[in-house]
Amino acid sequence: MDLEGLNSWLAERNLKGHWDHQPWSQVVRAHLWKWDDIYEGLNWSGKLITTGEAGRRTIQLRNPSLSAGMTNTIHFSVQLVNPGEIAAAHRHTAAAIRFILKGNPKAYTVVEGERLPMAEGDLLTTPNWTWHDHFNGGDEPIMWLDGLDVRLVGTFGAMIQENFKKEHKSFWSCASDLDQERVCRAALPLSLDGDLRQSHGTERKRG
Ligand SMILES: [Fe+2]
Repeated sequence: MDLEGLNSWLAERNLKGHWDHQPWSQVVRAHLWKWDDIYEGLNWSGKLITTGEAGRRTIQLRNPSLSAGMTNTIHFSVQLVNPGEIAAAHRHTAAAIRFILKGNPKAYTVVEGERLPMAEGDLLTTPNWTWHDHFNGGDEPIMWLDGLDVRLVGTFGAMIQENFKKEHKSFWSCASDLDQERVCRAALPLSLDGDLRQSHGTERKRG
């Protein structure tokens, strides 16, 4: 067996000698995703699948230089929520930013019981392991760019997601009362409620 033969023999067994320099498969190459394609695909998805069925109705940006995902650290998708829909609450160890592309005055992301309006051009953050859902109370679909450090977190095997359970008190109930100003205690899951009230007081005024 010569060295080339050994390289092949090792490769067949998913092994590799340090001397056998191969292109690093995780190199991320630049790629351009066209908005027209994203927008058309997203609109089709809005007709073909509900947010409830999809969990999150997102079109993921996939980099052809990688086997999966957009980069080795962050991942971006574009999300659509139709009028009247709620993208159900969950939390995960990946943190997220949301850059709003199409919003309306009755569209909200709720983070740990805090209602954050979604207007075009706004940037929202969802820190890691915070409960969050998205609600569109307007008449037009809303869209935003979702960015998460999910690839980085996943590299460390630390990606965990938990869906909000129905037996928990709904914490977007305050957010659903869109038309009136009122005092609204952060309606967080019961398991978190006590801790939150201790650290932030019993009531917080919400708009
Ligand atoms: Fe999320």
